[in-house]
Order: sequence, then C-alpha cells, then structure tokens
Amino acid sequence: MTATTERAVGSDVRRIDGPAKVRGLAPYAYEHEVDGSAVFVALVQSTVAKGRITSIDVSAAQAVPGVLAVLTHEDAPRLGDVAEELLVLQSDRVQYAGQPVAVVVAETSEVARDAVGRVVVRYDAQRPDVDLRADRDDLYPPEKLMGGFETDSVIGDVDAALAAAPVSVDVTYETPNEHNNPIEMHATVARWDGDVLRMWDANQGPHNLVPVITEAFGITADQLHITSPYVGGAFGSKAFTHVHQLIAGMAAKVTGRTVKVELTRQQMFSLVGHRTPTIQRLRLGALPDGTMTAISHEVVEHTSQNAEFAEQTATATRLMYAAPARRTTHRLAKLDVPAPTIMRAPGEAPGMYALESAVDELAEALGMDPVELRLRNEPERDPERDVPWSTRNLVACLRQGAERFGWADRDPRPGVRADGRWLVGTGVAASTYPTRRRPSQARIEAVPGKPFVVSIDASDIGTGAWTALTQIAADALGVPMDDVDLRIGDSRLPKASGAGGSTGITSWGPAIIAAAQELRDREVPPGGLTVTGSSGPGDEAEQYSSHAFGAHFAEVRVDRDSGEVRVPRMTAVFAAGRIINPTTARSQFLGGMTMGLSMALHEEAVLDATHGHYANHDLAEYHVATNADVGEVDISWVDEVDELHNPLGAKGIGEVGIVGSAAAIGNAYAHATGRRVRDLPLTPDKFF
Ligand code: MOS
Repeated sequence: MTATTERAVGSDVRRIDGPAKVRGLAPYAYEHEVDGSAVFVALVQSTVAKGRITSIDVSAAQAVPGVLAVLTHEDAPRLGDVAEELLVLQSDRVQYAGQPVAVVVAETSEVARDAVGRVVVRYDAQRPDVDLRADRDDLYPPEKLMGGFETDSVIGDVDAALAAAPVSVDVTYETPNEHNNPIEMHATVARWDGDVLRMWDANQGPHNLVPVITEAFGITADQLHITSPYVGGAFGSKAFTHVHQLIAGMAAKVTGRTVKVELTRQQMFSLVGHRTPTIQRLRLGALPDGTMTAISHEVVEHTSQNAEFAEQTATATRLMYAAPARRTTHRLAKLDVPAPTIMRAPGEAPGMYALESAVDELAEALGMDPVELRLRNEPERDPERDVPWSTRNLVACLRQGAERFGWADRDPRPGVRADGRWLVGTGVAASTYPTRRRPSQARIEAVPGKPFVVSIDASDIGTGAWTALTQIAADALGVPMDDVDLRIGDSRLPKASGAGGSTGITSWGPAIIAAAQELRDREVPPGGLTVTGSSGPGDEAEQYSSHAFGAHFAEVRVDRDSGEVRVPRMTAVFAAGRIINPTTARSQFLGGMTMGLSMALHEEAVLDATHGHYANHDLAEYHVATNADVGEVDISWVDEVDELHNPLGAKGIGEVGIVGSAAAIGNAYAHATGRRVRDLPLTPDKFF
C-alpha cells in the first residue's frame, strides 16, 4: 500500500460520475437493455377519488395486437402484508384520484398506452373530501410524528405568557400541496429469474426497498436483487417503495418477461407522494427589548385515507429560540388524497417558512432589526431537551451573511423603495436541519497492484455522494482517489442507510472509515484481502443536540403594475460541519436554495374540490423554478467541524439549503411592498 499524505477530503474534486453522465454512458433505471426483449407497462388510473369499482371490461384492450396481459383487482397476483397505500390491484376500493385500477402489459409502450384507453371501468363513486381547513371538526392528533417526534410539546403557560406579552403577533401561514419533481421519472425494470426478482430501479437506496418488496412477493432478501447506481434526482419521492415497483414485479410474474415501467410526469403527481399542505398559526410574544417570552406554533396538515403520514412541521420551532413558554401542536385531516411523502426537508421547509416569517413580523412590531432580534434570542442550550449543542453557529451565519449581503445599510421601513416600476425589499431568515446518523456497513477488497474496491449500498441521487465517499475512502486508506473504486447502489452490496434526511455522509462515511481501519497494519497477501466495517449512532444523540444552521438573505423586486416577483440576489451562509467537497457542497446548497425560491414563487398543486384530482399535474402548469428565475447567488459557510457527532465532523448538507429560503424571500417581499402575503406561493395575483 503506497501511503499518501495528500488529503482528498476538503478538496475540490469534480464529480467522478460526471463524464459518464454527460456522455450518456451512465444508464438510468429505465435505460437498462436487459435482453432486448423487454415489454412495457401502462396504467389505467381511476377517474374518481372515492368509491368502488363496479365493473371492469378489459376485452377490447386484450384484443389489441401486442397486448400480453391486462391485470385488474380481480386477477392480479395477491400481495403480502404491506402498507395499505401499496395494496395496488388488491380490491375494488378507490381511495384517491389516479389510483391504478388496471395495468396493461404489451410488446411496445405505444400499444400499452393505446390499450389503456380501451379498458372500460365503471365506478360507484362518492364525492371526495380534499378540503384542508383549520376549522374542520375531524382534525385529530397523530400518534407520533414522522421521525418519532411527539405530536405536541408544551413548556410553561403559553396562553398566560402571550396575554402578558407587551408585544405580540398572531399570524397564520399557509403552504400548498407541493410535488417532488426530479428530472428522472420514477422507473423500474423487473424480471423474475426463477424465484429471484431482479430489479433495475430509480430509488434513494436499494436496501430501503427490500423489506416491502420481499414481503409483497413472499420472497427472502436473497431472492431480491435491486440495482440503482445512477439516479436522476429524487427529493424524497424515491426514498420509499411506491406502487409502480410492485406493479413491475407483478407484471413480470404474470408475463414471464422483462417488464419496463416508467411513470409519466403526470402520473408522478398521484403515485409517488407529495408534500402535505399546511396551515400554521404562529403566536409570538416578546418584551420591548426583543426577548421572546412565548412561542406557539399550531400546525394543521393532511394525510390520506390509506396512510397516516404525519409530517413534523413544527419540530424545528422546538429548538430555534428560547422563550420560557412554548407550545407546538400537529393535527391531521384524513382526506381523499394520495398518500403524502417526504419532500426535501419535510417538516422543516414549511415549518421554518412560517416560524421565520412570524419572527420577521415580530421584528416589525417591535421596531427592531430582524437580524438583531434573532441574535437576542439565541439559546445557549437546546431549549426543549436541555442538552448542549454539539455545535450551533447560527450567530456566525447571521453575522457573516449580513456582512456579505450588505445588510447594515438597510432601511427598515417597508414599501418605500422603488426602482422604476419595481418595488424593492430585502429579507432575512434562519435555517436549521437536524444532524443524524444511521447504521451502515462497508466492505473493502484489497488486491496488490489494483485499486481498492470499496462497496457500500449507498446512493447518489445527484448529490455528489459518489465523489465525496471516494474522497473519504481515499483518505481513510491513505491512497490517492485513483486507487479507490467505489461501488454503490446495489442491494447485494453491504447494507447501508438510504439517501435521506441529509444522513448520507454522516452514516456511510464512518462505515467506510471503519472498514479501512480493519486494513490498517495488515499485510495484504498476493491473493488479496477483504474486510468489512460497520458504523452507526452511539449515544451522541442523547448527549447533544446536533443540527446544521444557516442564514438566508434575499432581495426581492415586485412589479407594481403586474405583481411579478423577481429575486435578483440571494446570500446564504451555512454552518454544516466539515465540508467534504466544496464544489458538490455548493451545488447542494444552491439546489436547496433554488428549491426554496421555487417554493416561494411558484410551486402549488391545486386539488380539484369536486373531483379530487390535481388540476395542474405537469410542468407546464405546476411551475418549478428554472435558471431564468435564479439571480446572483452567494453561498459560503463558516468553518465548523463537529466531531462530537461523528468522526468526520460532518453534518449533512442536502436539506438545510431549502429551509428558511422561502421565508427570506417572503420577508423581502413584505419589505418591498409593505404587504404581508401569508400563503405561498407569491404569485402575481396576490399582490393586488
Ligand atoms: Mo429527503 S426528503 O430526506 O429524501
């Protein structure tokens, strides 16, 4: 082993998977040419949102030349004991618009789609209820929130503290139903090799899918092989199993062929989850000097008939500021909608939008600078758990951000600046995202004269994880990066956690380091040597409160004639632990901030009140930020290494970028216009 003292971690390394991707040589799931004889699936989706199927006539579809099979709930293979939302084609019940009610398998995708139009489905339909309101009388507290958090938290007498507060705000914010829109549509290629199910699939970690798919088909983990090396974005929608993966397995079983399923963009709006809409009432009380005395954050959100998905919207509020009286609550409405799922910073993104907007309103009520208000309420310890921070550098982020953005000269008065037709304002908001780590294993094969083969079922969903992990492996082995051959995205590789919750580097990196330590001081025999390592959380999560933090600053311009909103400039400073690769890290922050801008200005799926479907279910009508929306973006971070949390000192960077960015834009909008719009997105009509 040739030792090198050069460190790869912390250096600007270009994506090692980049050249293959830009040359079209990196096969995405749907592109796998398995044996040249794949057949294709198309879906018949329910046109009603609630009711029962009374009949399905598949004869005309069956008669189309090239159609191999049409599956319905009457004849589809029975699935095992999986979550209700995944029980596709198992009963005549319809629980949301767009639910698959029949599946066509055909020799070509054109024939399959043609046959879909010939399936005749009759329903006994009921009017769906998709109306989220805070005054519904059927709102209920979920058992637990996602992530295992308690539904409510109460410290002190909040109502008394609010009543006694010399300055207070009582404001309600609404965030809409949003949809994960990775560029790569969800896709699965499936084939049964005897009793082994082989899948090429777009997901956020093959091992994430193993429990559900093995249960669904009654097979063991050894009988399932999923590969997913290249993934074209995900944002949470590819974290868990959805119905199309089960449909692929069923269709492959029935036809005995290799089956390709790719959801259309439109189908993604009902079949792979969405971010729940929220209604959030924020009440903040403070002393005239800005010291917060009371914080109340009450959340109403929706879930579906077939799943209880309770997003942890207000949990960031539990740790941000230290008022002596604090309360957070979450209530759900069970509606006739598709099952929600996680979407980049689920919980924190909508929750911090509301909290950080309300803090801005409090600053206005106090006549105090909003940066200063945050600095005055900086808690020394986690105010909810009463444990020390492993590191908390929000103050440094706010100060450095204010400096870089040029905040000092800001005129606090709202609605008084104009540049021609444009009203101009600036805003600030804080960000936070939890730092976690999950159990993971890695394997290293050392053969003299060859690169080390480092294997881990990690996932690079476009984040740069492949590159960053190679950097970590190179340093851990003491070799140049060229001497590391990293293999990821395969359920036959050592089990690792999925890409989610910004936990990739903090979970996978330590596993690779642990495996490398097994090689230390070992003589590699001519025949080679294989070692494994594993890593997982210790008691750091009990001892410390660990979170990444950040500060966002934005300039907003609003056209006083048309209401058009532009964001010419964004600055953000993050404190997110050790940065493994500045280039890919910057991309993660930039992507998060852009998604926050998209949330602020554009993203909103509208549920049709009568039919219960998403009226705008494509990229023509569900707007996602494009390059033209993004102005000057200044991204930096403070030096921070958090070794109290994990040996890399890293915190995870995938989600902290989106959190708070929409609030900074909303606050800048209020500063520009003198009008506070409290429901996202800030579409032009809301200006008038
Ligand atoms: Mo992310 S929403 O945790 O995949």
